[in-house]
Formats: sequence, structure tokens, C-alpha cells
Amino acid sequence: MADLWPGLDGPKISYISPPPSESWRRMWPRSIAILGSTGSIGRSALAVIEKYADRFEVAGLSCARNAACLAEQAARFRPPCLAVLDAAAAWKLRDLLPQGYRPRILEGAEGYAELASLPQAGTVLSAQSGAAGLAGTLAAALAGKVICLANKESLVLAGDLVRGICRRTQAAVLPVDSEHNAIFQCLTGRGQEAANLLLTASGGPFFGKNRANLADVTAEQAMRHPTWRMGAKISIDSATLMNKSLEIVEACHLYGVPSSRIRVLMHPQSVVHSLVEFDDGSLLAQMGAPDMRSALANCLLWPLNKPSGAPALDLARTGQLTFHEADADAFPALALARQALSGRGGLCVVMNAANEAAVELFLRGTIGFLDIPRLTGAAMREHRAAHPHAMGRPFCPPLAAESLSELKNEVDALAARITRLDRHSRDMVCQLAKKDGNK
Ligand SMILES: NC(=O)c1ccc[n+]([C@@H]2O[C@H](COP(=O)([O-])OP(=O)(O)OC[C@H]3O[C@@H](n4cnc5c(N)ncnc54)[C@H](OP(=O)(O)O)[C@@H]3O)[C@@H](O)[C@H]2O)c1
Repeated sequence: MADLWPGLDGPKISYISPPPSESWRRMWPRSIAILGSTGSIGRSALAVIEKYADRFEVAGLSCARNAACLAEQAARFRPPCLAVLDAAAAWKLRDLLPQGYRPRILEGAEGYAELASLPQAGTVLSAQSGAAGLAGTLAAALAGKVICLANKESLVLAGDLVRGICRRTQAAVLPVDSEHNAIFQCLTGRGQEAANLLLTASGGPFFGKNRANLADVTAEQAMRHPTWRMGAKISIDSATLMNKSLEIVEACHLYGVPSSRIRVLMHPQSVVHSLVEFDDGSLLAQMGAPDMRSALANCLLWPLNKPSGAPALDLARTGQLTFHEADADAFPALALARQALSGRGGLCVVMNAANEAAVELFLRGTIGFLDIPRLTGAAMREHRAAHPHAMGRPFCPPLAAESLSELKNEVDALAARITRLDRHSRDMVCQLAKKDGNK
């Protein structure tokens, strides 16, 4: 199996986790818990699972507050365990479940962590949106699961921590994000010949627009992604190119490479999902229709290669494939990842939190589109100025714990530290936006 893996501890690629165990690979049906099953990724994953009903058992499903959708999914897949954000959502959910089906209903952050570590589930899909997904990813890693990772924020906030846990518990990460999944596929068996990783970016709905064109765009326009159907937060991130910034950080952590070996290529057709450049200068690309079921099937069924339900790609009908440099002036969010990675000291946490807060304000109509990267950059500068001694140092020091219980305590303490900085950074953005409003 090692030859299917991108490469562990090598000089060119040092993948974030060891491969899944031989027993997981041979185990069918696979039992799976899904964090964020009511979202865009969660629903696509259930479509793949339904297509291969004899290969999967659903052990758990979760949402935040969309109890109606979760009840409908639960009635279909009958998992023994469900998790929701709070008591009100749990109450509503109980009312909506069919008679005679009484699953355990877990609540809040602890409930999600319990769902991510259910003993019967060998596989966890981490597909909650935003920083809220971190707790579930960490719990799955601590429990030694095979983690199909869609929640990129987990690696932006705590990539080193996830890596450290996986090395100790033998948890494995399979990347769902389409670009990182494409790179994972291109690297199969060839990680130590990889020179550079090339992330493609569709450019979202505003590809080709200049800075002046973007001043007055609305949330509705920003949500109208030309090629992908996704949740609200990632749709706005795609429009600002912050999504690509987050993905640069994600790729650094997944593949153990510096950001200098990651390039971004604008590719509006979203057909080439990403590429690897090898030592001899040749490129290997992974292509397909823009449909997340492909990457999900690749992870859920790994290492089997089976139809996902996504349409096959007809290149003759696609016509032209074009590639361009990004416009750094119109999309300043793209530069933020490299600044955050070089500064370290928690700057990635600040970048992610500030962006999430700014996106919420934009969706509520409180700030403009260009204010999203401006406020995110301002929060990063404030953090840098307030903590000059933290710069250049890792925010999460290497794990020191020797036993599993010590490891859990250490991870809890580091996660609490990340959460504090996350909250502080969100507050900072709200204050900066308020100051702007008062001018
Ligand atoms: N969509 C894509 O094509 C795509 C592609 C690559 C990577 N990703 C990544 O995958 C993740 C999910 O994206 P998505 O587009 O599927 O998002 P989404 O459609 O907004 O769904 C998010 C899911 O997380 C749940 N959730 C939201 N807030 C939560 C909270 N505070 N605590 C617990 N659960 C919460 C939602 O429950 P409710 O339904 O109850 O709100 C829903 O189940 C993100 O990290 C995104 O960056 C997405």
C-alpha cells in the first residue's frame, strides 16, 4: 500500500499521515460517521454512499440546526447516532424522526467529538463548514480513524497538530478538497519526484474583473459560482480567492512542502482540478467534470476506482482549456496565505477567523466585497504588531505527550488556545468594521 501513498517523511513530499491500515482497506462494508451531512459535501457523500449501499454502513450523521434535512437523511440511512448543535435542534429533530426509530441524539461540540470517535465507525467524513469543523477532525484523529477531510479549515488552524496526532494514533487523512485530491492522485507512487504543486482556481464569478468592478458587487452576485455548487461560505471565499489562500495552507500541511513550491493557476473551466510538476519539468494533471462526487468516491472507496455518479468529462464538448496568472490587485486575499505562513505565530488562525467574520458581515450587507480581504489583512497586521515575539514560532508546539490520555489533554489545551485566538480575531474584525462605519 505504501506505493499508493504520496510519500512519507521524504525530502520532496512528507505526507501528513500514514496510509490507512490493511484491515481498513479490506473491510467491507465500511462504517462511516459524517460530520456535516446536511451540507453540500455531506449530501454529495450520501449520494455516493447510496450508489454503493452494499459497501457502506452509516454509523452517524450530523448537522448544525437543519433538523428537517437531518431527519430525512436519518430516516433513509437509519444510523444509530445523530448529532446537532444544541438542545433546541435536538428537540426539533426528535419530533421529526419516524416512529419506532430512536437513535441516540448527541449535542454540541462534545456530541460532534463523540460522533467522530464512535467505536464502530472506522471512517469519518469531516465536512462541517469553517472553524467549527476543527473539533470533529481532532477527535477523529485522536481516535485513529481514516478521515476523509473536506474541512480545509482544520488544516489551516491546526495542520501541524493534525500531523502530530496522526503520527501517534496512525489515523489517516484522505483529501476530499478537489485540488488536493487531484494532487493526491497525481502523486501516487511518485511523491519523491515532485518538484512543485500547481493548484488551479476557477476564479469564481468575478474572474476577469478588475478592482474597480468589484467595489459594489452584492452577496447574491458573489454566491453565483459559474462551475461549482457549494455552501455559502466557500462560495464567497471562491469569489475573493480566499479559498485559494486557505488551500495553499492546506496543501503545505497535507504534503509537507513550503509555500514556495506551490503555484496558483487561474483556470476558469474547472476541468483540470490541479497538477504536479515533476523533476524533469513534465506536468501531470487530474481532470474531470466539476462535481465533488468524484473526489468523494475516490476517498470513500479508496483505493478502488469506481464511477461516482458524476458525468464523464467530454473534452471535445468542453472545447478550450485556458490558464492565466491571478490578478493580485483585484484579489488581494490570495497573498494573505503566504504572509500568514511566513509569519507563523498564529497568523493562519487569525487569517481564517478574520475572514470568516468578514464573510458573515458581507453576507449580512454590513460591509462591501473588497472589505473582506482588507479587514482580514488588517486583523493580521494588528496581531503581528501585538505579538512580535510570537512571529516565526509555531503556534502549536510539537506534541510532548507519551500516553494516549496525555495526548488527549495536550490536544484539548492546544485546541482551546486556537479557539481563544479565533474568537479574539473575530471580535477584532467586528470592531474594525464598526470603526469604519462610524467614520
Ligand atoms: N462544497 C464544496 O464543493 C466543497 C469543496 C471542497 C471543500 N469544501 C469544504 O467542505 C466543508 C463543508 O463545505 P460545504 O460547502 O458542504 O458547506 P455547507 O453546505 O455550508 O454545509 C456545512 C455543514 O456543516 C454544518 N455546520 C455549519 N455550521 C456548523 C457548526 N457551527 N457546528 C456544526 N456543524 C455546522 C451544516 O449544518 P446545517 O445544515 O444545519 O447548517 C452543514 O451540515 C468546508 O470546510 C468547505 O471549505 C467544500
